[in-house]
Amino acid sequence: MRRFVYPILQRHAPIRYNERMIQLPKLHSHMLAWPTDWSALFGRQAPILLEIGFGYGAFLLHLARSHPEANIVGVEIASRCLEQTERAVEREKLTNVRLIHATAETMLHHLCAPQSLSAIHINFPDPWFKRAHSHRRLMQRDTLEAMVSRLLPGGHLYLATDIREYAAMSAELLAATPQLENLLPGAWVNELPERGVRTKYENAALLAGRTCHYFVYRRNAFPAPDVPIIKDWPMPHVVVHLPLTLDEIFACFQRQDKTLDSGVYVHWMDIYRNPQRLLIETFIKEPTIEQHFAFLLAARPAAHEYTLKLSTIGHPRPTSGVHKAASALRDWVLSLHPQARVLIEKVAED
Ligand SMILES: C[S@@+](CC[C@H](N)C(=O)[O-])C[C@H]1O[C@@H](n2cnc3c(N)ncnc32)[C@H](O)[C@@H]1O
Repeated sequence: MRRFVYPILQRHAPIRYNERMIQLPKLHSHMLAWPTDWSALFGRQAPILLEIGFGYGAFLLHLARSHPEANIVGVEIASRCLEQTERAVEREKLTNVRLIHATAETMLHHLCAPQSLSAIHINFPDPWFKRAHSHRRLMQRDTLEAMVSRLLPGGHLYLATDIREYAAMSAELLAATPQLENLLPGAWVNELPERGVRTKYENAALLAGRTCHYFVYRRNAFPAPDVPIIKDWPMPHVVVHLPLTLDEIFACFQRQDKTLDSGVYVHWMDIYRNPQRLLIETFIKEPTIEQHFAFLLAARPAAHEYTLKLSTIGHPRPTSGVHKAASALRDWVLSLHPQARVLIEKVAED
């Protein structure tokens, strides 16, 4: 019988890394509130400057040094970049920086409240040249709408890229965004010395003879699109009548993955059991967030009744994808026996 064993989540405390003590808290998006209370995280209220995809941190560190009056937030997905930049922040004893392990999409859609950011900096985003990969580009309508929503009126959006096609695509997107006002005479400039520092990719581009394109936009008073942090949905909860024992349900489980509607990818990874319940390890990828958590199928006091709900493991948020996954799991449970039926159901169908 498999046991209930689950990885212990990292705590917000100093950890040892490569024999050196790092004092910065490891801030993973899964552990932060929606929206995050940035003033509490920094211990002071100050304008927030966000850099997306800070890489090895040259620009982020420069921002922190040159803006001691601001709270600097960097978001990155690459662990190596996070670790190296954390070490530099520690070395320089910069107290006005917090590094977040998350995608830009999760950060913008879920962790940042509307009208909370004074500036967003994007330096040399991955171009994703192939058409089949274009949905991964940072500069696209949904993400730009989230940026617009999160910027304060008068806040700035800065973008730099050395890829001509990416610059042209971004120029078109930005020009069609009435909430942003271009502060440059043309769509972009090829030099912006007031940036004060060059990033790794910027240096590489210039060394290779490529031209850089810099964009500077300001948020105006035009109403922002509505980009909710999370829909006000309950935790999914289903009670079923199912004339099978837990052992029989356990034996029917098969690992599988599938794409549900609205591009929600779900992977039923594994099943664990104890005498009273089953724990179904689940991974879900939605356009703005990935979650790794577990569903519980718990026996109720009445014979052949089970409750399907979320376990607290993995701190799941009741997103649209989680509700779709709950519906799919309910359908699987119902498919196990011809007399299975739903007794109580709280699952949002969108
Ligand atoms: C081409 S590098 C540029 C790094 C740095 N800004 C520079 O100019 O040297 C793009 C960076 O963005 C990060 N990145 C890519 N997609 C991301 C996303 N969706 N959210 C956050 N960071 C992302 C990558 O890990 C990488 O560090």
